[in-house]
Amino acid sequence: MKYGNVLVTGGAGFLGSQLVKKLLSISEHVHVIDDLSTGNVNALPQSATLTFHRGSITNEELLEQILPEVECIFHLACRNILLSVQDIEGDLHTNLYGGFLLLRKAKECCSHLKRFVYTSTASVYGNAPVIPTPESYFNITLPYSASKFSTEHYCKVFYHMYQVPVTILRLSNVFGPGQLIENPYCGVVAKFFDAVEQGEPLTIYGDGTQTRDFTYVEDVMDVLLRAAWEPGFVGNVYNVGTGRETSVNELAEAISTITGHLSYPTLYKPKRVVDKVYRRAVDVTALQTDVQWTPRYSLTDGLRKTYDWLREGKV
Ligand SMILES: NC(=O)c1ccc[n+]([C@@H]2O[C@H](COP(=O)([O-])OP(=O)(O)OC[C@H]3O[C@@H](n4cnc5c(N)ncnc54)[C@H](O)[C@@H]3O)[C@@H](O)[C@H]2O)c1
Repeated sequence: MKYGNVLVTGGAGFLGSQLVKKLLSISEHVHVIDDLSTGNVNALPQSATLTFHRGSITNEELLEQILPEVECIFHLACRNILLSVQDIEGDLHTNLYGGFLLLRKAKECCSHLKRFVYTSTASVYGNAPVIPTPESYFNITLPYSASKFSTEHYCKVFYHMYQVPVTILRLSNVFGPGQLIENPYCGVVAKFFDAVEQGEPLTIYGDGTQTRDFTYVEDVMDVLLRAAWEPGFVGNVYNVGTGRETSVNELAEAISTITGHLSYPTLYKPKRVVDKVYRRAVDVTALQTDVQWTPRYSLTDGLRKTYDWLREGKV
């Protein structure tokens, strides 16, 4: 086995559930903590080596019970960007205090912790003047960006003061199998595929010229697993993405083509409060240089695989 006992916080969410599936075959035991506020326990497989703990990462007793045996922590639990503007204190409590508490308890309770992997976000870049954006830049404009970025700082504090072996990965617009439309906060790719399935137009907020760096889930899984294993990641912050910009209009066209339509109808709506970023692509040079990682999936490949998964009944 590559890993001993591992903990995945937010393991019933989109990325957490995909990660758990991968970890089960290469770990002795996988613990999941998830309060199911947006996650779905049915997204997790049944396994004798998986223990699901329904609860919050802010529950000290729960952490004290699980952490002593844990060698590797993947900290994915979060309140999402849309919820962060509806409930700014809830965002602070889960994303910042929850992250801080997990770090503190990891330091206190884990006697042989090999890695603490934290999934941060490209949202820390706001509207960046340089595209693709390197890790050195930041521009905080939303509560979600503030709480996620602050937790990055605490990761570094625990690394420098207490040698907690952290690694911070800034993910960008992940899509692919496992992203469920049942979660009302799921990303635009899942929403577009579902709209086509329902025979409804693709809803676009703004004029659709805003760009994002869409990253296929398998590429993200690859980095997450390597980050927990390879020494080169420790103490560092890395962007995870493709470095390529795709406008929401281009995404709509791509999904239209993949689903066999010449030009699928779109419906333009005013921007929401969270739609502040006009351009986004992350610079992945550091990840390429330091650990020789490059994304394997083009947007088209990833969309085709996602469509296959949807047509095959999401198995
Ligand atoms: N999906 C993306 O495009 C993307 C992009 C950038 C960063 N990220 C980061 O990756 C991580 C996972 O994202 P995701 O897309 O899987 O999100 P998700 O919303 O699908 O999963 C988050 C999970 O955390 C759980 N959760 C929320 N509050 C909790 C609490 N207090 N205690 C325990 N569990 C709690 C939810 O129930 C959910 O299952 C997050 O940290 C997110 O910031 C994701």
